[in-house]
Amino acid sequence: VKQARLANSTERSGAAASVEVRGWVRTRRDSKGGFSFLEINDGSSLGNLQVVAPGELDNYASEVQKLTAGCSVVITGTLQESPAKGQATELHADAVRVLGWADPETYPLQKKRHSFEKLREWAHLRTRTNTLGAVMRVRDQISQSIHQFFHQHGFFYVHTPIVTASDCEGAGEMFRVTTLDLERLAKSGGPVDYSQDFFDKPTFLTVSGQLEAETYATSLGRVYTFGPTFRAENSNTSRHLAEFWMVEPEAAFFDLADNMKLAEDFLKRVFSDVLQKCGEDMEFFDQRIEKGKIAQVESVIEKPFQHMTYTRAIEVLESCGESFDFPIRWGSDLQAEHERYLTETHVGGPLILTDYPASIKPFYMRLSDDQKTVAAMDVLVPGVGEIIGGSQREERLEVLQTRMAAQSLDPQEYWWYIDLRRFGTVPHSGFGLGLERAVQYVTGMANIRDVVPFPRTPGSAEF
Ligand code: 4AD
Ligand code: MG
Repeated sequence: VKQARLANSTERSGAAASVEVRGWVRTRRDSKGGFSFLEINDGSSLGNLQVVAPGELDNYASEVQKLTAGCSVVITGTLQESPAKGQATELHADAVRVLGWADPETYPLQKKRHSFEKLREWAHLRTRTNTLGAVMRVRDQISQSIHQFFHQHGFFYVHTPIVTASDCEGAGEMFRVTTLDLERLAKSGGPVDYSQDFFDKPTFLTVSGQLEAETYATSLGRVYTFGPTFRAENSNTSRHLAEFWMVEPEAAFFDLADNMKLAEDFLKRVFSDVLQKCGEDMEFFDQRIEKGKIAQVESVIEKPFQHMTYTRAIEVLESCGESFDFPIRWGSDLQAEHERYLTETHVGGPLILTDYPASIKPFYMRLSDDQKTVAAMDVLVPGVGEIIGGSQREERLEVLQTRMAAQSLDPQEYWWYIDLRRFGTVPHSGFGLGLERAVQYVTGMANIRDVVPFPRTPGSAEF
């Protein structure tokens, strides 16, 4: 049982090797010798357990021989050494109980391989496939490591709100939350009166818990928030979701250098946990999804991350001779193609880009002495591009107020945020890691829709 890593299975008392396994049938093969082989998977690992079901079973003809992919079963029997290649043990059944049938005419996950795109249509069943099962186990491990890393470094987990009135990123990509009957209002043609709305004002799904996390960092010292965030950005790309999970640490008395170090230590710890604890799943990704993935992740863990300023990155991009779809010059935002050139071709590993122009970054980033750039940092990794975005925050009251005015933000909406600079302000920093991008990076999965249980993207919110 250990060998097959069937965590749901229990060893029964009495005869040492008598076990009960519960799971789903992957395949059945009837042997000429009057018995059948069943491959059972219980979701705890990639490994299937081979079951030998003898013809003597009471329900052999009536049930066992009718089992097909997807049926759920409880099997008791004894573990024995397997003569077959590729497995150490097999289970010799003395009872096979069928819990649920799966009509082979309509069960979509037949033996034939389906594309990931096709599997998205069955997001409620696709985790029963090898790849999606492995992805979700890795996703779980990353989530666990996130909590462990921050707790071990003295960060408290805070729960920031999902419904908010402020647009942290200032990009206007927020989903509105309302109880108003907008349809009726639109028909009547009148202006929308938000004093009639549930919260008496316009509210939205959060794009980031950062601003609220900052309030906690300036009281508890080191905190992180980890939860779902929402962006109504109309980008149908392989790395954007409308609903994704973000972990956002925020630390008082941290400057940009501390922040960069934290991000690097954090990523390395998460990646090495995945290699250690999800070895079998990572072997699978290494062989089936992206060749050489394990060696790549190992080298990321071993080598220090490279650093480069935005200004230097623009010089590199301008002189590299590559033809990009989007022209690049100082002051423009980097597109995915630029980020990938820098991290994949120029550096060949993770790259921390710093000191972006103030004009392309949100109001809360700390303005540098040159008055043109801010203390921002993005972590880029091969295959994905930006995986982390963060900064040192503007802790000076007047500078913050000037920057908010320049970005036409209403100070009354952010009065509580501004208060932090009025009462015992301190330098502080933080960043946000997109959980799905981290999962994409370690697994090598090409599309972000395949590393989140139920993807929400423009025009698609099935399930
Ligand atoms: O760079 P972003 O927008 O930064 C923030 O939201 C800051 N408030 C974070 C902070 O400093 N506390 O987003 C952070 C990360 C990105 O680097 C990316 O990994 C992920 O969140 N991300 C997305 N992931 C999936 N789909 C999207 N639409 C994403 N937008 C951002
Ligand atoms: Mg960003």
